[in-house]
Amino acid sequence: MDTIHTRAAEIGHALHGNHLPADTLLDKSWWERHALAWLTADPAVKTRILRFIDLYPTLSSPATLLRHLREYLPDDTSRLPAPLVAAIRLVDTPLATPRAVAAVTDAAIRRIARTFIAGATPAEAGGAIDRLLREECACTVDLLGEATLTDAEGEAALARYRELLGYLVATRATGDPTPEISVKPTSLLATFDPAAPVRSSADARVRLRPLFRQAMESGARINVDMESFVYRDLTLATFTDLLEEDEFARFDSGGIAFQAYLEDAEEKLEELIGWIARRDVPVRIRLVKGAYWDQELAVADSHGWPLPVRIDKEATDAAFERMTHRLMTCDAPVNIAVATHNVRSAAWALAVAESARLPRERYEFQTLYGMGDDLRRRLVAYGAPVRVYAPVGELTCGIAYLVRRLLENSANESFLRHAAEGMTAEEATRPPSPVASPPRPRPLAEVERRRTFRNEPTAPLHRPDEREAMEKAIARVENLLGRAVDPVIGGA
Ligand code: FAD
Ligand code: 2OP
Repeated sequence: MDTIHTRAAEIGHALHGNHLPADTLLDKSWWERHALAWLTADPAVKTRILRFIDLYPTLSSPATLLRHLREYLPDDTSRLPAPLVAAIRLVDTPLATPRAVAAVTDAAIRRIARTFIAGATPAEAGGAIDRLLREECACTVDLLGEATLTDAEGEAALARYRELLGYLVATRATGDPTPEISVKPTSLLATFDPAAPVRSSADARVRLRPLFRQAMESGARINVDMESFVYRDLTLATFTDLLEEDEFARFDSGGIAFQAYLEDAEEKLEELIGWIARRDVPVRIRLVKGAYWDQELAVADSHGWPLPVRIDKEATDAAFERMTHRLMTCDAPVNIAVATHNVRSAAWALAVAESARLPRERYEFQTLYGMGDDLRRRLVAYGAPVRVYAPVGELTCGIAYLVRRLLENSANESFLRHAAEGMTAEEATRPPSPVASPPRPRPLAEVERRRTFRNEPTAPLHRPDEREAMEKAIARVENLLGRAVDPVIGGA
């Protein structure tokens, strides 16, 4: 391991951005030049901006928009994103018709979104995809949308995915890398319910089957994204159930994302590796740290559930490195996509790949569109295969994705934030060092703290042990049914 650490430090220095010539800095993304400043300056302002962006698609008339803009955003515009300042300034001038303010605000939000979203339609994203291809990067294209509420929306999402895949295959030129799509199960069906895993897997496979079939028949790759923790086990079960079906038994271009920030990640990874070894056909695992950290905290806190994620960032980084090593050195036919914008995490993966003499076709790096462009270019220059996750779709479907990106980039512990703030090569390449017992990040929800009374949490039925306990309890109660029970009043 020591030699891998030494090699990771060497590679890390090569991948780190500080030795960039000055003119390359002009090439930095709009995000890195502007947006970080307003998201990190003042937490209260950040919350207001994110809340405003979150509700933006629901503001159905210019008058409502004007009212919300006044209510949500502070009078002091010095800490607001430049595009929004124009809208705020307009609010208090004689030109401030609701329609004019709406147009300026819309342009501002679209400017922010454009950093992370490749285009509203596949054809519109075509330019971005072509640019990436010219920079020797492949793409995995995601259709924005998640948490679908109706069956009709799920059907429509499936149709759009099929069209997208058709478009990517049809526009692929000779020599281009294999196209890939990334799919979120909750975008395809409204009834993806972790409390009913058997039925939900069956329903989800009805929607996933045509997509996997199309990918298989057209020589494309398909990846299942991992969403919040409540869906983790169900998503894994659906994926393995599908690839065990006769039709897909030999399909070797399917993949699934796997989150290192979960406390039980390594245990679960062993189960997945065991399954891949038994199936004995290649599966791609996209190793990620995880995109729902803030959401997991809020959900666990509000329900009174145990926190599923690690609370020490360094512990996540260390787990990511152990899992990279495990995936690159295991005997099962695993291909790994190392999805990170962190120089140290990427350098570690390259050092492990080198030491394990892992063939190039067994691994690749992945970054998100609009993030970590410096690292992406350096990885290409280093000779590593790179693929970019490029989301496509209307902004209204992409708000949750956009808010996750804004939260993730501006988090205190974000590597990209530190890099933009000028971290040194030594800092960028330092191995993770988890603390022994990290403090809890936040107290319990305000209401709970003020009372001695604690609500009994609702049963977290996404956990198998809880489902089993509930089934046993129902069976016990069923045995007691059919009896007359007299009322008990005052103990009598
Ligand atoms: P770093 O700054 O090194 O790490 C940030 C990450 O560390 C956070 O995102 C979080 O996961 C973790 N973290 C932050 N604070 C703490 C803390 N206090 N304690 C513990 N951990 C903490 N994620 C998914 O969930 N599902 C997906 O399907 C998915 N697909 C992805 C696809 C691609 C191509 C990429 C690049 C990422 C994907 N991600 C996915 C991951 C996610 O969106 C983030 O980009 C990623 O976690 C950022 O990690 P990093 O190594 O780039 O940055
Ligand atoms: C997300 O949607 C990238 O899948 C990840 O946040």
